Amino acid sequence: MKFNTIPDDKEIRSAAALLRSGGTVAFPTETVYGLGADASNPFAVQKIFAIKGRPSFHPLIVHVAAGSELTRWAKNIPDAAWQLAKTFWPGPLTLILERSALVPDAVTGGQNTVGLRAPDHPVAAALLHEFGGGIAAPSANRFGQLSPTTAQHVHEKLGGQVGMILDGGACRIGVESTIVSFVQETPTLLRPGGLAVEAIEEVLGQKILLVQSGVQKVRASGMLDSHYAPGIPFEACSGKELIHRARQLASMGYRVAVLNMGNEDAENLGMDGITCFCMPDSSAEYARKLYATLHGLDCGIFNWILAEAPPATQEWNAINDRMRRASCRAVAHSSETLIETCSLEKTLSR
Ligand code: TXA
Ligand code: MG
Repeated sequence: MKFNTIPDDKEIRSAAALLRSGGTVAFPTETVYGLGADASNPFAVQKIFAIKGRPSFHPLIVHVAAGSELTRWAKNIPDAAWQLAKTFWPGPLTLILERSALVPDAVTGGQNTVGLRAPDHPVAAALLHEFGGGIAAPSANRFGQLSPTTAQHVHEKLGGQVGMILDGGACRIGVESTIVSFVQETPTLLRPGGLAVEAIEEVLGQKILLVQSGVQKVRASGMLDSHYAPGIPFEACSGKELIHRARQLASMGYRVAVLNMGNEDAENLGMDGITCFCMPDSSAEYARKLYATLHGLDCGIFNWILAEAPPATQEWNAINDRMRRASCRAVAHSSETLIETCSLEKTLSR
């Protein structure tokens, strides 16, 4: 399959026709690539779950062309939600609202709420316009794995299973949308993402609640502790510990890819088994590069990814969140246990 050709009108028309006939289309958004199907067709929506290997109770986001479609898919919409849609759509913000009768159970996993978002990408916008309905779409990856930020990623991981893949180039933002729920009295953050929480709070004139995964019943699959994970163990540690940890891993026989952020000592490590990759020090650029870098490192050369943890500030919230979830489940254990557990998991999953 050839990529890097931006779809023309003809391709958009055939993608919309495919959606109308109940097929699946992978398409670019400003955050990550989505795997889309007609949101009003439960049979089409089922295909997404089958392709992703995603449990059917995990709800999907319905993508819409504009805020004017909110009333079609949701009801009892609070003013605050309208305000956010008006300010940030199209953009990397998903609103969780009470669903309208149009939303099938297949989309919401039987919940009474629906996730809605208007993506800010010309190809997604053209597709939504041509299709005329809502497109249910999770990220176009297998359940629990890394989200794709290029059409090539989608092709490599889901290739033959998807009806059509539209190429819109590399995603501008690179991490998924911020999810805010309006189901509770106070707006609640379910997932940090491409839109900063401070920007949302500024518009609302109030703080939003932050929900820790594991504290509440998992509503957003991205809130599962192990998620957004590359195929090889991933670990983040402080800049101070980076070199020591890299050496420790290399001496145990691991081929370590080190993602450093301006830790110059790391670049001069020059030790067998350690390769350094310099990551940007701006959070926006880091986000844009993160998944593409992790996809690239999962190529058979390395068997451990060690990242220098970014600062624990709001600005890096979404990236720190994804790193925590990408980390091996055993991260709370001691280093030795971590290695054993991860190796065991790898062995078991072969
Ligand atoms: O940036 C994004 O949001 C991308 C692009 C393709 O739009 N989509 C995406 O979809 O990340 P997905 O399914 O990989 O993650 C969406 C998250 C899931 O964790 C899902 O559980 C949550 O949104 N979600 C969807 N509907 C929900 C609902 N009604 N209540 C709570 N969480 C919901
Ligand atoms: Mg996803």
